[in-house]
Amino acid sequence: MSRREPLVVVSNRGPVGFLVGPGGELETSRGAGGLVTALRPLVDRHEVTWVASAMSDVDREVALSGRRIEQSASGSPFALRLVVHDAEVYRLFYGVVANPVLWFVQHRLWDLKRDPAADLGRAWQHGYLEANRALAAATIGELDRVPDAPVLVQDYHLYLVPALVRAARPGARIAHFTHIPWVGPDSWAVLPPEIACAIHEGLLACDSLGFHTERWRAAFVESCEALLGRGAEAERVSHANPIAVDAVEFDALAANDGVIARRAELLAKRPEILVVRVDRADPSKNAVRGFEAFGKLLEHRSALHGRVVLLALLDPSREEIPEYVDYRLAIDRAVAAVNDRFGRPGWEPVSLVVRDDLLASVAAYAEYDVLLVNPVMDGLNLVAKEAPLVNGRDGVLVLSREAGAFEELDEWVVPVDPLDVEGQARALERAIELPDSTRRAWLEGIRSRVRRHDLDAWAERELAELEARAPLPRGRATMGL
Ligand code: F6P
Repeated sequence: MSRREPLVVVSNRGPVGFLVGPGGELETSRGAGGLVTALRPLVDRHEVTWVASAMSDVDREVALSGRRIEQSASGSPFALRLVVHDAEVYRLFYGVVANPVLWFVQHRLWDLKRDPAADLGRAWQHGYLEANRALAAATIGELDRVPDAPVLVQDYHLYLVPALVRAARPGARIAHFTHIPWVGPDSWAVLPPEIACAIHEGLLACDSLGFHTERWRAAFVESCEALLGRGAEAERVSHANPIAVDAVEFDALAANDGVIARRAELLAKRPEILVVRVDRADPSKNAVRGFEAFGKLLEHRSALHGRVVLLALLDPSREEIPEYVDYRLAIDRAVAAVNDRFGRPGWEPVSLVVRDDLLASVAAYAEYDVLLVNPVMDGLNLVAKEAPLVNGRDGVLVLSREAGAFEELDEWVVPVDPLDVEGQARALERAIELPDSTRRAWLEGIRSRVRRHDLDAWAERELAELEARAPLPRGRATMGL
């Protein structure tokens, strides 16, 4: 699809959030996360209406003024339609079902000693279903303006939206992209069957379904077959299309004054060997085992004492959810355990910074000798693609076999099994000792792969997959913004 087309994008977190500035004026802040970044080419090239949840009090006030025209980071206009949810509905939707249940099930972090909670059925009905209904209703409203516009629904928050839209508008052209892993039928069996089936049926209402990897796609086909006997249909509508990063944006960021200043600060105190990790503070990212592995490395290799530092830049995330609060405390304990045992005046082995600071992350990307990306499971992991683009030290990527990015980058990384702490310690050691020529060749390998499969390619493929399965009827024109 090369001409400008109207598109309706639907996601929980929108591309911008609103806040009130110091002088009382309305300011926008860029929505966080890979999903929002990945969809930017669509906004730049097409007439996008973005339907999303109002997430703050200011968002909710803004939402009352209805649909509004906003600008993307690159200046392209798009229409934003924020949907206001009742506070309790949103808590049940985001804080009970979407994250502690769906996110944990799909990252194999489910805890059978405790879950599922007895009131999951209520949270599903009055939270997840309600919030999906509200976003579906807004989407249907948009389709009344542009009936043939492709509807691109995003991620695990919105598994029910496609079926709700399909029921109201049978001819709608609907795609969904899942940004997290998909798991097989045994993993889904921990949920009440009616919930697991509704999720799969919700998605099968789409014309086209995207996943980051062939592995997640195959698991989806398998779970559709096991739960609904609809594996063949799932096979027909699904494809794998790993999300990309904006290389041009990272080239520009590397030259940004803020990044240069932070890089200078880092250089002033950098150790001989800098190991870096950059993640959201999320249990799936496996920071605790990473710190334990670093402790094991120091235990085995006293020659590294005083010469190596692990810099961990963690972005606070989902702090209202108890499991995330517990994990934050576990992170602090794991860092203290390493520093108390090995630290000495003038050398703190682990430096932990918990703050949302993209510029500091990019500075660390530029400076790492070893980058540790060890998620328990990850749909893709953008850090593994972003950091090598700007690294200036022939840094080595230590990458979990369970990250979606592993499928693309495995030739050029030191692989790790995320549950094997000793193995991760050995992998860090191997990465530190890797010969210069290999370091350089691997970094180049990652970079050229990331630059080849860029964001435009990702976005256009999503539209092409939908067009192939649900073509726009010939001669039907659509209206714009
Ligand atoms: O990985 C899926 C994802 O939607 C990413 O796009 C994003 O980084 C993260 O989850 C955001 O989560 P939340 O909206 O809960 O902050």
